[in-house]
Amino acid sequence: MKRFSIMKHFTSVYDVPDISGLIRSAAAFKAAPRANRSAGTDRRIGLIFMNPSMRTRLSTQLAARNLGMEAIVFDLGSDGWKIELEEGVIMNGTTVEHIRDAAPVLGSYFDIIGIRTFPGLLDRDADYQERFIEQLKRYAGVPVLSLESATLHPLQSLADLLTITEHWNRPEPPKIVLIWAPHIKPLLQCVANSFAQWMTKWKPGSLTIAHPEGYALSTTFTNGATITHDQDEALRGADFVYVKNWSSFEHYGEMPVVKANWLLTQDRLSITNDAKVMHCLPVRRNLELGESVLDGPSSIVTEQAGNRVWAAQAVIEKLLGA
Ligand code: CP
Repeated sequence: MKRFSIMKHFTSVYDVPDISGLIRSAAAFKAAPRANRSAGTDRRIGLIFMNPSMRTRLSTQLAARNLGMEAIVFDLGSDGWKIELEEGVIMNGTTVEHIRDAAPVLGSYFDIIGIRTFPGLLDRDADYQERFIEQLKRYAGVPVLSLESATLHPLQSLADLLTITEHWNRPEPPKIVLIWAPHIKPLLQCVANSFAQWMTKWKPGSLTIAHPEGYALSTTFTNGATITHDQDEALRGADFVYVKNWSSFEHYGEMPVVKANWLLTQDRLSITNDAKVMHCLPVRRNLELGESVLDGPSSIVTEQAGNRVWAAQAVIEKLLGA
């Protein structure tokens, strides 16, 4: 018999009734990881991956284990049947199983289903409809936990907010900067969208987003943030600098040419307010972020990734209705 959850799903900030409470809960688990060991007894979480992962895969398993819960990982993307998302189609192509059939089966196996499903970066409307995760929510009958979807990465954002909270104990609100970084291939907008969404809803301080022309994120997520193309203007006086690459939303999935140098180095950080530097990882050294920063005292990226465990634990506990 499944119990009712106090948080039905966790796929965006809008699933969270109390952001501050969730951050406090994550911090409490960091201080006492086994504080609620019985919450997940005889419960199972399925962690379904369509795409690669290290941090999300491991931290979510550790979080489940800390709650006494069994976690089963399945690489659907490489080992499962190809899933059909279109309604009413004749399945005479490459897809083998419809989400309407697969989702209830997964729901019968697990008390919570975690899913990682990246966007194709070809069809903006299809990606931004979040069809995989929305149909899973509709047909699985159990709570769905986003392990990073087509447009958002809420577990990452919760860990990011916990990290910022831990590093800020002054009375005035911090200046937080999300700054675009170079890359050699088009990356998802999920981490940037999600960070902007959580920051503009929770409002722990001001959010400035700096990016080259052509790289504006969807205003759905950035309303309330200051947007600039001027790196120095963004970095001046910053307390936290979150470095991340993303591909173009406007020219969807493309990489408009960028002439200026957007690589953040230790030199550039000198105009900040001794800012802490964040990145969700994985990071390409000296392409996305200079190693003078990554290996220096400003970087809190390892701690940030460590906080993924406590963020996941707080969320799973809530999804269990514990
Ligand atoms: N930051 C993050 O989600 O890392 P992984 O892709 O390794 O899970």
